[in-house]
Amino acid sequence: MSDSMRLRCTGCGTVYDQDIYSCPRRDGILEPVRERRRVSSIAELKGPGPGIWQYRALLPAAGEPVSLGEGNTPLVESRDLGPSLGLSLYFKDEGRNPTGSFKDRAASVMVTMEKRRGPSVLVTSSSGNAACAVAAYGSAARMRCVIFMYHPTQEKLTTAMAYRPQIYRVDTSLESEVLEMARAASRELGWRLLNTAAADNPYILEGYKTIAFELYEQMGGEVPDYVVCPSASGSLLLGVWKGYLELMESGLIRAMPRMVGVQPESCSPICRAFREGLAVIEPGGAPNTCAGGLVLEDPGATGQQTLDTVRRSGGTMVAVTEEIIRETLYTLPAREQVFGGPSGVAGVAGLILATRQGVVPRGARVVCVVSESGFKGLTLLREGFEAPPVIKPDIAALKELRGHVR
Ligand SMILES: Cc1ncc(COP(=O)(O)O)c(C=O)c1O
Repeated sequence: MSDSMRLRCTGCGTVYDQDIYSCPRRDGILEPVRERRRVSSIAELKGPGPGIWQYRALLPAAGEPVSLGEGNTPLVESRDLGPSLGLSLYFKDEGRNPTGSFKDRAASVMVTMEKRRGPSVLVTSSSGNAACAVAAYGSAARMRCVIFMYHPTQEKLTTAMAYRPQIYRVDTSLESEVLEMARAASRELGWRLLNTAAADNPYILEGYKTIAFELYEQMGGEVPDYVVCPSASGSLLLGVWKGYLELMESGLIRAMPRMVGVQPESCSPICRAFREGLAVIEPGGAPNTCAGGLVLEDPGATGQQTLDTVRRSGGTMVAVTEEIIRETLYTLPAREQVFGGPSGVAGVAGLILATRQGVVPRGARVVCVVSESGFKGLTLLREGFEAPPVIKPDIAALKELRGHVR
């Protein structure tokens, strides 16, 4: 096995010479062991692609990648919200990935690694975005795919179905039970586990870290003061942090960003532990949120590492109300022309709160990850607007209604 295929647990430090999904002690996340190389320019680490595989030198050695052109998402400079909050603000628009969320980055690396290991069945559990991503990349790899879904929106269910995986909607009120279904199927049926909490698969953070590499290039080598991520297990946040760490180890940057994780108030175990100064996260919450992607009552070893990373970075965790998530959902497209879904814009909602509370200071340079497309939440979005008036195909009718034309 080549060096980059060996896996080390971030918790106990054990190194494994075989492809396994989790450290049996479940006290950390498995990471590929890689020799660190110092470089003077990121160009030395880049190749022709496709998608995130342009950073192949920093990704696991995998043969031919399973790619749908993920990554390379736009960094949009805020023209309205940023100035009004006194911030230099940018949105990393992850909704522009092939299936409409940042999960495509993880799915590309995970499915590539599974394809290399030969034919089998892929299995995942998800409230929606991971289901769409795994179904699409599984189908690109011509691998069978079984998905346990947790209370999906119609948009997410339909998108996933279009790629023709076997889907089961699991009848439970606990996301953690759905996650456990996928783990049990992997253990007992030998299926390959592609859950997207980092402690369940070593290749998730490998995909997400490419967000930091792109940010480095898009910001001309500057490191933002803060990176804000909507968070469930915190894998997205950990991936961005890992990307910046690798840039630091390569000698390309000298400072790290402060990491900010945002969760919906009704399901915010990492926020609670952060706020109360707990060393260990206590699972819990009574999820009642429109941000379905962020529901996870027990974030496990991944959540624990997220809590430690946020503290170590000097960042913060923010819990947001339904009201502010919805307000952000309904106003962001017209204010900034960034089209996010409810879980996707939760980070923006959290940033607004953190800035008002003075936790993120005025003048800071901030990147907010918008993690899913508004197309994933059309039904909810529709609730935010009055139905447009219907008129006869007649200019006189328009003139009569002029009062409605702004
Ligand atoms: C849109 C969206 N944003 C953020 C997350 C947070 O994921 P995590 O913190 O587990 O990486 C999810 C998880 O499913 C999601 O769907």
